Amino acid sequence: MSTAEQAYKNDNTGGIADATKPVIVVSHVNKRFGKNKVLNDFNIELNKGETLVVLGRSGAGKSVLIKLIIGLMEPDAGAINVLGYDVPALDHDGLDVLRSRVGFLFQSNALYDSMTVRENLEFPMRRHMSQLSPEEVEKTIMEVLTNVGLPHTVDMLPSELSGGMQKRIALARTLVLKPEIILYDEPTTGLDPITGKEISELIVEVQKKYNTSSIIISHDMKCVEITADRIAVLIEGRNYASGTFDELKQSNDSKVKAFFE
Ligand SMILES: Nc1ncnc2c1ncn2[C@@H]1O[C@H](COP(=O)(O)OP(=O)(O)O)[C@@H](O)[C@H]1O
Ligand SMILES: [Mg+2]
Repeated sequence: MSTAEQAYKNDNTGGIADATKPVIVVSHVNKRFGKNKVLNDFNIELNKGETLVVLGRSGAGKSVLIKLIIGLMEPDAGAINVLGYDVPALDHDGLDVLRSRVGFLFQSNALYDSMTVRENLEFPMRRHMSQLSPEEVEKTIMEVLTNVGLPHTVDMLPSELSGGMQKRIALARTLVLKPEIILYDEPTTGLDPITGKEISELIVEVQKKYNTSSIIISHDMKCVEITADRIAVLIEGRNYASGTFDELKQSNDSKVKAFFE
């Protein structure tokens, strides 16, 4: 545990030992860029162990929402609480601790091209788990790579891997820190349908194995159907409709129906 993490644990500003409390609460959040009102009184909650899909068209504000949750952007109004932390109020050290507990899978994967898979996975561990011995680091890397089905790629470069494999490695890189929450930004976009389905199934497996809570941003209905315990539909900056896949599929609202056609 780093000094910053120790300080925050002692400070008791975050934590959430109570399993009945939501691990993420986004309430009455507004976010605009100039005249472009992206989020307008937006509300969601993520419960422990749950996979919540935020469904929205391109440009709806899905990535902005994720960036707000992880503290990469600040809301104009409203509250964002993650694992007990008041995210907009966190300083640099606080955000660092938050990001060691909340994994984030970028749409672009954001792997380092010049580093091998092993080096990509070591990178976050060196920052957040500096107490681990080299043997423990290697053991964790091989364990996580096995769990995403790619132990043989450990010495390869990202450029030697297919899109689906890169996505698995990006997921492995979040898993080495044993995050309590994982945020996925369009995990299947840009993949062919079969690979997209495999990634969706892997997300469900990982969820069970690591007992994480997740928010998945998507408009790939196959991925949504496979992964979602619950769905929130982001339209015009609001949480326009919510429910299970089957409930929303039966909606008579034309804006909701459009996603299922
Ligand atoms: N840093 C930024 N500066 C200005 N506008 C932004 C910024 N980030 C996002 N936007 C705008 O916010 C809207 C939502 O973007 P985004 O969340 O990326 O959409 P998506 O739902 O496709 O992920 C878009 O209109 C986008 O142009
Ligand atoms: Mg996006």
